[in-house]
Amino acid sequence: MSAPEVVREIELLRERLGSVRNRQQSIALVPTMGALHAGHAELLRIAREHADVVVASIFVNPLQFDRKEDLDAYPRTLDEDLRVCAANGVDLVFAPTASEFYPSEPLTFVESPVLSRNLCGAFRPGHFRGMATVVLKLFNVVQPHVACFGEKDAQQLAIIRRMVTDFNLAIRIVPVATVREADGLALSSRNKHLSAEERAVAPVLARVLADAHARIAAGETDCAAVRAGATELLQAEESVRVEYFEIVDPDRLTPLEQVTGAALIAGAIWLRRTRLIDNLFWPGTG
Ligand code: PAJ
Repeated sequence: MSAPEVVREIELLRERLGSVRNRQQSIALVPTMGALHAGHAELLRIAREHADVVVASIFVNPLQFDRKEDLDAYPRTLDEDLRVCAANGVDLVFAPTASEFYPSEPLTFVESPVLSRNLCGAFRPGHFRGMATVVLKLFNVVQPHVACFGEKDAQQLAIIRRMVTDFNLAIRIVPVATVREADGLALSSRNKHLSAEERAVAPVLARVLADAHARIAAGETDCAAVRAGATELLQAEESVRVEYFEIVDPDRLTPLEQVTGAALIAGAIWLRRTRLIDNLFWPGTG
């Protein structure tokens, strides 16, 4: 596998991608914040199937961190990330510095108030506005035909899909199923912060989501009942603090009372200082 070219300046990236477009080649973008794991690798692999040229962006976006300690603690592992990119067929890595990407304080933002109201949005003020703003900037700089996003961050995916629709962006969003450890824990760069004891408890969220999914499959339609059961199971773990466990409409992300069609079951828990999120779609994306 040949090493991808690492581009740090927007102008140089535009130049490189200009020649790609002149050759009539298609471009796929995989936006990331680095600390790449097998979940990111899956996005890169799927991007490879959808376009001639794959661009991975690696940028820890200060605008989307609602807690400074989270931004400071975010793992930065560029050398290892470049190996993951090389092994997964990435052609170009765009890794700007914060001053290159935000040369002056941004005064324009992407807001999706309805889609940011619930789930993580209720607990992370400004997060989705910062996320959608950086993704729109990346879309404008790279101008990809296709962009891949993980279902692991289901609210992020819903917001990006709706931004693409509402702003008429000519980009196809490809969702990628959540990659998990053998015990069900969804891969996340934040798993690195878990102690051995916390790591042993962490799969409870995936288990409880699977249990909720199974209850719906068995005919339960009352969301309050499913939520109550799930919250009880999570709270049975002494070290777990439940942030939310919700069943929502998968597009509008508004809470459901009854499961009558498609639904998103999503939860967030804290294990001491580490926050974990996970979700399952009902009936599933197959
Ligand atoms: P980051 O957390 O690095 O995630 C980059 C992409 O990888 C996202 O689309 C995310 O959903 C996906 N991903 C993470 N863990 C995954 C897993 N276990 N299985 C499948 N996909 C997974 O999400 C962000 O960065 C940022 O918000 C970003 C979109 C880059 C904007 O800054």
